[in-house]
Amino acid sequence: MMSVHWLWSTLALAAVCYFLQDLFLMKKRKGLPPGPKGLPIIGNLHLLGKNPHQDLEKLARKHGPIMYMRFGYVPAIIVSSPEAAEKFLKTYDQVFASRPYHEASWYIAYEQRNLTFGQYGPYWRNMRKLCVLQLLSSHKINSFLPMRGEEVGKLVKSLKQAASDGASVDLSAAISSLGADMSCLMIFGKKYMDKDFDDRGFREVIQESLHVAALPNLGDYFPLLGVLDLQGLTRQFKALAKVFDNFFDKIIDEHLESKEHKQTKDFVDIMMGIIQSETSEFDFDRRHVKAILLDMLLASMDSSATAVEWAMSELLRHPEAMQKLQKELEEKVGLKRIVEESDLEGLEYLDMVVKESMRLHPVGPLMLPHESMEDCKIDDFHIQKNTRIIINVYAIGRDPSVWPDPEIFVPERFRDSNIDLRGQDFRLIPFGSGRRSCPGMQLGLTVVRFLLAQLVHCFNWELADNIKPSDLDMSEVFGFVTSRATHLRVIPAYRLAK
Ligand code: HEM
Repeated sequence: MMSVHWLWSTLALAAVCYFLQDLFLMKKRKGLPPGPKGLPIIGNLHLLGKNPHQDLEKLARKHGPIMYMRFGYVPAIIVSSPEAAEKFLKTYDQVFASRPYHEASWYIAYEQRNLTFGQYGPYWRNMRKLCVLQLLSSHKINSFLPMRGEEVGKLVKSLKQAASDGASVDLSAAISSLGADMSCLMIFGKKYMDKDFDDRGFREVIQESLHVAALPNLGDYFPLLGVLDLQGLTRQFKALAKVFDNFFDKIIDEHLESKEHKQTKDFVDIMMGIIQSETSEFDFDRRHVKAILLDMLLASMDSSATAVEWAMSELLRHPEAMQKLQKELEEKVGLKRIVEESDLEGLEYLDMVVKESMRLHPVGPLMLPHESMEDCKIDDFHIQKNTRIIINVYAIGRDPSVWPDPEIFVPERFRDSNIDLRGQDFRLIPFGSGRRSCPGMQLGLTVVRFLLAQLVHCFNWELADNIKPSDLDMSEVFGFVTSRATHLRVIPAYRLAK
């Protein structure tokens, strides 16, 4: 147990160090972008509430699209317009392609050996190449098409049953469970039950990880205070790391012992195959496999499901848009059968709905933090090495100088427009852009489009508990995946011939 005397001495020493650093930073402030005035030691940390993307959007309206802030010891630039985002993610992409120290990833993701939080360099480049070519290629994504069809079909069946019983359903829970099942089948080759993982259950641990990893952590902003673990987060990270590590070890062992001949190789098979064939051009062992498994699991499980949840919420609030989408699907697919992935080509209104929903509700509103690897000048502003760069995609999607009536859901705004969401047009970047952009974009978009089309085509929907569409609560819970604060409860009515 740490003595009280020692605790106070450490805090006093930390305070003196940070105070001296404040004085030093004040001198260096010249040439930095404008930003809110900071307090001694904590800087601007007090300005961040439960939904930091919304707080930062308001601040940027006052201080500008390239805004300087300081979170404890860490200087940060908040980017809130398409033009500014283009400079950071395209013009100077290489300078800003690293990730900062992140205590959660340090403990949970094998000392940041994962792709998501790996620092820019040869190791990260090799890991990214491996994931893009071996795990997330079009060929690999297509090989899981039958699995996706089967799992979405099971969801339709259970909703059909609820419809014939006239029962209401928790659509958020149903979609999230489908996301978990599809991820497990693709990554591990089988579904895992809650009890296989930890007493708390599979999805709960994943959601806890995504939440705690995104929380403002004093250990990230005040390295000296990190050792004291005042928020208890380090303990939580270590406990989560143990749960994941045991789980991944068990799965890898099961794969190594299995004699089953699989037609479609899952991600564990592919990566263990690379280790066994000794063909890897870089250091790649069991620890790296586990780090990638963690990435794939955390990145895929809730992201697409949450995007569908938001799109369904907006369609329920806008019945005329729901009807237009049903009409488009009816013309393409007819009312005699459910949607196949091969139907998705050329569904213009579906694409417009997905874009509009991702504009208003980007799943990762602050993306993942980037870090500058050298000093750089942007718009005459001086950006120091090791500055944290936060791209506020949420603010970009609601920038009134780019989007007329930005708060209103109008899919038609994308009709006859060439704005795409794949990272080429900085007005709409839900998957990021440049070197660190999302390598799972094709898979994510496929799942979102397919599942959304299926739900809208197979059912008419009503909000449960007599809630009027205009009264639906749209509050958010911030995290690396930002989802609805309340679950979406609905009553489905099956609309197909059989
Ligand atoms: C609708 C679904 C998804 C959305 C909206 C989304 C969005 C994003 C965003 C905004 C980033 C950060 C970009 C940056 O920091 O510049 C990211 C990174 C990443 N995403 Fe996704 N994502 C989705 C689905 C997926 C899926 C299905 C996978 C994999 C199975 C995946 C894997 C990753 C990985 C590994 C990174 C880190 C890349 C790196 O740092 O090099 N994502 N994603």
